[in-house]
Amino acid sequence: MGTTDRSTSEAKRVLLGLTGGVAAYKAAELARLLISSGVEVQVVMTTSASRFIGTATLQALTGRPVFTELWDASVANNMAHIDLSRNVDVIFIAPASADFIAKVAHGLADDLLSTLCLARACPLLIAPAMNRQMWENPATQRNLDALHRDGVTVLGPAKGVQACGETGLGRMLEAHELAEAVHAFFQPKPLQDKRVLITAGPTFEAIDAVRGITNSSSGKMGYAAARAAAEAGADVVLISGPVCLEAPRIARLIKVTSAQDMLAAVKSEAPYADFFISVAAVADYRPKSASEHKTKKNDRNIMLELVPNPDILEYVANLPAPPFCIGFAAETQDLEENAEAKRRRKKLPLLAANLAQEAIGAEEVALTLFDDSGRHPLPKSSKIEQARHLIAHAVSLYDKWRNFNSCKK
Ligand code: C5P
Repeated sequence: MGTTDRSTSEAKRVLLGLTGGVAAYKAAELARLLISSGVEVQVVMTTSASRFIGTATLQALTGRPVFTELWDASVANNMAHIDLSRNVDVIFIAPASADFIAKVAHGLADDLLSTLCLARACPLLIAPAMNRQMWENPATQRNLDALHRDGVTVLGPAKGVQACGETGLGRMLEAHELAEAVHAFFQPKPLQDKRVLITAGPTFEAIDAVRGITNSSSGKMGYAAARAAAEAGADVVLISGPVCLEAPRIARLIKVTSAQDMLAAVKSEAPYADFFISVAAVADYRPKSASEHKTKKNDRNIMLELVPNPDILEYVANLPAPPFCIGFAAETQDLEENAEAKRRRKKLPLLAANLAQEAIGAEEVALTLFDDSGRHPLPKSSKIEQARHLIAHAVSLYDKWRNFNSCKK
């Protein structure tokens, strides 16, 4: 199926199709999330879906009439099944019931939504939602194989407690995961077949069994970089220090605590990476020795001897065949001078700099990218938007950097 040719700056248009399943309630939140992120949503529901959630709810959330009938006299040419599927960038069925999946797999068209799917000129995404036995049934799996072969993108399902009380595979993904997947679907894929290694969050250096020193870092920028790299088609490995963020489904997550743990994980992954994005706020020092037990307090001053931690980014950048390395610099003053000096000292083709006092824990950030051609300011925007710009910039430098580096060897 060809994609509709629309410029990326235009709002994307999604035809959201609901079929019969308890998870239909999540589709209301999905519609809301898509609309609040600038996507135009047109809802079409099957008769069974309208037993689970009212058309009025979706109409109010999307500000558009909800279509349910194949034979709709209000559509001037009575061809809702053609018109609706022509004016969208993607059809997204969420929830997709076992019955509806079977219909699409066999090309049946006995209601408005299945007819739209058959008549479409755009890609089709589905988010299955059903009881675990229905999911595991060989008939459903055969139908899913057919959909995969037809180029349909299947999102989920997740494993967990189901409405029927059983536990297993078949739960529809959560609304925010589906909204992210829709945005990811629309991103260009310049990193297909590339492996991206990312460090994120702070490290924690133990003093004793319950105390330690760390850096302020929410991990949000590193997790956004992981999401942006995955959206661009990369195979992503995310090595994360302790953060309070939900593990991204799109990346292989390796959890670490100290800088030494992080270095060990990076050492074993770096040889396979095409890009290394070092977002982690690695503690520069660690206590020389950590006590196994909790140190008892008393009234005397105590001395804590600190020793320097390894510089993980420097280690990777100095490998005999390093990946394309991207550093981050969080500075509190003289941002530009400090950032460019850091980029040169660490021999990086690209470095992103921000003001620590504005960036740590924030949802939005202003970034300046530094490369061999100079500085490239990115005005304040969400961390995922900035991460997408960063990935696009790295991709634009990659081929030249690789040719130059292979000449040097
Ligand atoms: O701490 P500094 O400002 O030097 O950090 C700059 C870059 O170096 C960041 O990308 C950070 O992830 C990386 N770094 C590291 N290991 C360290 C210190 C910093 O990888 N020990």
